[in-house]
Amino acid sequence: MTDPTGGAPATTIFHCSDLHFGHPAVPEQYEAMEALIEQRKYTVVAISGDVSQRARSGEFQRARAFIKHAEAFSRVLCIPGNHDVQWWKSPFGMGDETAMFATYRRFIDEDIEPVVHVPGVTLAGLNTSHGVTGGTLTWRLRDISIIGVVKREQVERLRRVFADAPADDARVIVMHHNPMKGELSQRHGLKNTKRALGAFADLAVDLVLCGHDHQDAIHYIEHTRKGTVISTAGTVSNRQRGGRPSSVNSITITPDRIDVATLVWSNSDHAFVPGPAKCFTR
Ligand SMILES: [Fe+2]
Ligand SMILES: [Fe+2]
Repeated sequence: MTDPTGGAPATTIFHCSDLHFGHPAVPEQYEAMEALIEQRKYTVVAISGDVSQRARSGEFQRARAFIKHAEAFSRVLCIPGNHDVQWWKSPFGMGDETAMFATYRRFIDEDIEPVVHVPGVTLAGLNTSHGVTGGTLTWRLRDISIIGVVKREQVERLRRVFADAPADDARVIVMHHNPMKGELSQRHGLKNTKRALGAFADLAVDLVLCGHDHQDAIHYIEHTRKGTVISTAGTVSNRQRGGRPSSVNSITITPDRIDVATLVWSNSDHAFVPGPAKCFTR
């Protein structure tokens, strides 16, 4: 696909999140996503976690069908969200920690932090959903299985992934928890937001794709070297925040720009229609 404005090679990304297959799923909305993916033939489909509602086999099975369909048209990268982790199988590291991701791995991807290379862009999955650990302890007790954490060793892994990629590649991280405060929720999804954002600046990350907040947002964080664009996709389910419509983000990356456009669900059109959009210089 090429950039119609300048003829430069463009990478297009369909960014969706929090599909919550199972009870919250809205059939005509996920069918509309499938139609968009089929029509627009994005370079990459990125799914930033919470593909299930209760980490059940049947929910993952439907998510797998969505992924298999997308794979016919695009490269697909999916990472788990807090709803996809069976944290009760290994609270505080007790028991077999790998059991927490066994069902996700069986249906979605053996790799919970996949890396996808397409010409000009490296996308690295970052799993921020670690279940209930010492790192997720918080005074808000209900948050201990919900809140996300970025671990030091994960930052070092990202450093190696980007160091091994072509030097001119745009650096994209796909993670579940929102590092920016949600407008309606007034909350960050991560416990160690400052450290994570500092690491992204240090790694010269161009773009972060996340979700979890169930409210779409497009942010830009300025750093001394270069800034990072944050694409927070809303949910595509009946779990919208504040009565806002379901939404997905459609992204174009060229050597000098990153454009993020939100497509919002219209009940009257029974389709995703253009919503807020922002353009950034790389
Ligand atoms: Fe969610
Ligand atoms: Fe979540």
